[in-house]
Amino acid sequence: GLNTSHLTTTMSTEQYSKGLAGVFVAESAICTVGVKGVGLNYRGYDIKELAAQSTFEEVAYLMIYGRLPTEQELVAYIRTLSSLRQLPGALCDVLERIPSSAHPMDVLRTGCSLLGTLEPESKTNDQYQIANRLIALFGSMLLYWYHWTTSGKRIQTTTHQDDSTARNFLKLLRLDGQEPPALHVKVVDVSLILYAEHDLAASSFCARVTTSTLTDFYSGICSAIGTLRGPLHGGANEAAMKLLEQFNNPQDAETGIMKMLSNKELIMGFGHRVYRNGDPRNPIIKEWSKKLSQEEGGDPNLFAVSERVEQVVFREKKMFPNLDFYSASAYNQVGIPTLFFTPVFVISRTTGWAAHIIEQRANNKLIRPSAIYTGPDSRPYIPLKDRK
Ligand code: ACO
Repeated sequence: GLNTSHLTTTMSTEQYSKGLAGVFVAESAICTVGVKGVGLNYRGYDIKELAAQSTFEEVAYLMIYGRLPTEQELVAYIRTLSSLRQLPGALCDVLERIPSSAHPMDVLRTGCSLLGTLEPESKTNDQYQIANRLIALFGSMLLYWYHWTTSGKRIQTTTHQDDSTARNFLKLLRLDGQEPPALHVKVVDVSLILYAEHDLAASSFCARVTTSTLTDFYSGICSAIGTLRGPLHGGANEAAMKLLEQFNNPQDAETGIMKMLSNKELIMGFGHRVYRNGDPRNPIIKEWSKKLSQEEGGDPNLFAVSERVEQVVFREKKMFPNLDFYSASAYNQVGIPTLFFTPVFVISRTTGWAAHIIEQRANNKLIRPSAIYTGPDSRPYIPLKDRK
């Protein structure tokens, strides 16, 4: 039993929920996750419709400004993002000093923090401008650092006017000036839509906690990036790819997964805190991963291995893949290096984080829960000289 007699609040331990599972801690009009009979939607729009009909820039606008843009507003917004993709010189200098062995998530966290010193939040550089700047700049930061540290090349221009976020990212990744295949651009665009928002996932909650102290916008995003990085959250897409790479064929996957399950190892890309009967984003990304595998340059074996992993985990544990699982094979097939999977998630989720920061500020209350104390009872202080 937990001793709570010392508690001076009206809280009881019945309200205790480890990991805050099943606890409501905020009101939010941004996104539904696990709301009975509703499915997953962003500000009321079904994720299936958004993934089928909209673009990431429309969704980003929806997140940040609270409504879908008109055609004219969208054209202007795409242009705005393009114009924000050039890196400040001081940021390039710092990126060049980050070792090539660094994890790309640490590069983005550092870049975000540095930008907060170069372009601090102010009345003239407000939360909306910073949100757009970061969405535009994360891809530039990552790929500038990548090309410099791996081949000593400085990208001269990190922007191509009127390119979408997805196309610009794939262009910068290649550096040969070639247009990325339309299907690759489409798949990355859809994945950015699917990753944009997911109510109080650990990183968004963290952004809200940070924001609730009335700190600046960059601090909220830095906290969120650090939180997304771990394999129980965004890092799962990278971890899922590393898992899939171990298997040469579906039979290998069958054997390997059975072994992992009997060792009680986590299968990355499966399970979810809120969804118990499947992640509504999974069928969408799975379909695109399958399509890639059927096209020239695709990897049918990787898709077959992924499907076998899905079948075995369902058969043995009744668990479903989450968005991260088929994102791994999709990103791999469009040529994104495994270590960049979670950074792509950052580019997208910055829109959701921004929405949460803006919403938290509009109706702020310091987020400060309590812990149930399990330490020693009161005891006398031992002076240093008497300590053994
Ligand atoms: N592989 C194997 N077993 C699992 C997995 C998994 N991926 N996920 C859950 N389980 C097991 C747990 O070990 C636990 O078993 P037990 O009751 O015998 O102890 C049971 O299922 C319940 O799981 P919990 O850990 O209590 O679920 P929780 O809600 O705390 O965790 C989480 C959810 C972190 C997502 C978990 O399912 C997990 O670790 N998955 C792998 C990482 C992952 O894919 N994360 C991505 C999340 S989605 C996203 O960020 C887009």
